[in-house]
Amino acid sequence: MNLQIKVSTVDNTTIFHLSNAKVSYILGVEDHHVLTHYYFGKAVKSYSGLLKYPRLDRSFSPNFSDATDRNYSLNTIPQEFPSFGAGDFREPAVVVEQPNGSTITNFEYAGYQITDGKEVLPGLPSTHADSSDAKVLTITLVDHVAKLTAKLHYTIFADAATIVRSTQLQNDGTDNVFVKRLASMSIDIPKNRYQLLQLPGRYAEERQIRIEAINPGTKVLDSKRSSSGHMQSPFFGLVSPNVTENAGTAYGFNLIYSGSHKSTIQKDPFEQLRIQMGINDFNFSWKLAPNDQFQSPEVMMAFSDQGLNDLSHSFHHMILDHVMTSKYAKKPRPILINNWEATYMDFDEAKLEKIVKKAADLDIELFVLDDGWFGHRNDDTTSLGDWYVNKKKLPRGLTAISDLTHQLGMKFGLWFEPEMVSKDSDLYRAHPDWAIHTPNRPLSVARDQYVLDFGRQEVRDNVFKQMCAVLDSTTIDYVKWDMNRNITELYNIDLPADQQGEAAHRYILGVYDFMAKITTRYPNILFEGCSGGGGRFDAGMLYYMPQYWTSDNTDAVERVKIQYGTSLVYPPVSMGAHVSKVPNPNTGRDVDIHFRSLVANSADTGYELDPLTLSDDEVKTVIQENNWYKKNRELIQFGQFYRLISPFNTNQGSWMFVNADQSRAVVMFFNMMSEPSYPLTVLKLQGLDPDAKYAINGHQQAMGDELMTIGFYPLVKPEHDFTSLKFELTKI
Ligand code: GLA
Repeated sequence: MNLQIKVSTVDNTTIFHLSNAKVSYILGVEDHHVLTHYYFGKAVKSYSGLLKYPRLDRSFSPNFSDATDRNYSLNTIPQEFPSFGAGDFREPAVVVEQPNGSTITNFEYAGYQITDGKEVLPGLPSTHADSSDAKVLTITLVDHVAKLTAKLHYTIFADAATIVRSTQLQNDGTDNVFVKRLASMSIDIPKNRYQLLQLPGRYAEERQIRIEAINPGTKVLDSKRSSSGHMQSPFFGLVSPNVTENAGTAYGFNLIYSGSHKSTIQKDPFEQLRIQMGINDFNFSWKLAPNDQFQSPEVMMAFSDQGLNDLSHSFHHMILDHVMTSKYAKKPRPILINNWEATYMDFDEAKLEKIVKKAADLDIELFVLDDGWFGHRNDDTTSLGDWYVNKKKLPRGLTAISDLTHQLGMKFGLWFEPEMVSKDSDLYRAHPDWAIHTPNRPLSVARDQYVLDFGRQEVRDNVFKQMCAVLDSTTIDYVKWDMNRNITELYNIDLPADQQGEAAHRYILGVYDFMAKITTRYPNILFEGCSGGGGRFDAGMLYYMPQYWTSDNTDAVERVKIQYGTSLVYPPVSMGAHVSKVPNPNTGRDVDIHFRSLVANSADTGYELDPLTLSDDEVKTVIQENNWYKKNRELIQFGQFYRLISPFNTNQGSWMFVNADQSRAVVMFFNMMSEPSYPLTVLKLQGLDPDAKYAINGHQQAMGDELMTIGFYPLVKPEHDFTSLKFELTKI
């Protein structure tokens, strides 16, 4: 079935049916011009109007003012853009404070428009597609009393099991109004048995997979940090109780936004679900002057009836093809070495030179100089905001180390933390007001630093100028953009009292504005995002920066879980994964070089250690692994990724990569603790050509359908804790 948006009328009900070969999304307009949700899921060829919500008297469910019976209530009908105060007691998608103090709204359908292609949203990271690859349905709703127009945007893509939604609100009145809440999407789903899938986490333990029952009441997953944060990824899913990686129904919702976010899952008394996602409305308020508009970020809504792997493939495809804008999105990513865990801030030119030379011997392709090269920074109490070279450590500037790196055939990368300022810095001494603070309140510190108000143009201009001066001073091929604390004492000193609720969103809009400018000015620089590891790893960031440091936790055993969870939404090519030293600085765990390499080689690989401390055996392995990675990089970075065994509820973890024509695959299997009388695990593969014969590691042979249906025993007797195995499959 081709990409289409069909509009029809059945019994006076206007019906919109968005569909492609994979999904259908159906909505309509019912009595009193209510925009109603009918269906989102597996594609259907046509829709007859059969699922019209029954007219039914429900006590304590109010009716419209002109009602002639008690059978039709906003409190029960499944909606697409619900308000509060005119009959619906569930969570509203929109709250607007009007000049008379009322926050009641009631939006009525007023019209629609269909356009080809998908433009990005101005100032916000968002999806994009050419005119033949997507269609957008825009539904216009009007509240005649509040004098507001809402435009709901629904994008369907030719090649994705995904619908993208966003909302825009316009003030048509003559007075200011205040937007207190505007969800990017809201959907009401009939009674069902779905469970909630979420990705909670914490520092060094990001995106852990969790599935739980949905009970009556309202569950909120959110961040109030002005950052998407380590603790709650801007994602949730609804899954059937029996969902596995390869079977079952799964919906996923991912917000393309990096600030405070909120997802609401509400089970009403009739066991219907209302789900919503958008900017967090906590302490949020946006002043909308007459004729002004407010645009919400977008939500990617993916569906699969074939389990979680298939759901992830939709997100991976969307992020790579319709979100990322970097020229490196589809280009091979280099093997890097980062000096952070090797030296922390204790380095000089001589130390770095040794690392660079050794890295070149190890066939590494990019050297990244991390924190500590600027101002007089020797620990994390100083110099953020002073983006000029520390001449004590690097007397010949960055050029000497950049030149050496390039002479040895490698690329050179540099760390920045542009959004931050240290109390002990020239920038803070000159502009203490630039740090986000609330007048008369003491300013909380975190990692001894403050956050610069990127919501303010003059602040951004200063840092931009400084950053450009560094980037123009020598050849820099890569930038790691870090962000190591969240915002407290939130306030924007440029804004009047009635606009303080805008501070958080304005901050993140400022960050986006800066990122757009810097990535446009330096299109050849590969940007990697970071926030104390993966603390702001979201689709908003990936729009500007095609890869992200997944976690400060470089313990390979923990990384199996973190990368497994992250892959639910984000493709392996967006994840930085490095081999680090043992015992691991995060956990004290000692894991051999093979295990560490295999985990790192499952994403954008690299090293986070002092290469001079490697033993001769380890050096040999590192060179072998790097050469293996280079040969297989296309498959790892751009092949189809399948999760096979979850490390969250077993002593193992496993995943695999399959190339586009299914002629090659690599399977990685990790056994954590060695167990006596080892219970044998059967490993069943995915994504192979069922009718093709594959050689496994060059010797044994089996058909694709056998490998996927019957499987094999990958490990018979672990000899020690933390065993890793790699199986390379080649079609013969
Ligand atoms: C954060 C990052 C690390 C490293 C340090 C430097 O914690 O996640 O990778 O860059 O900052 O201070």
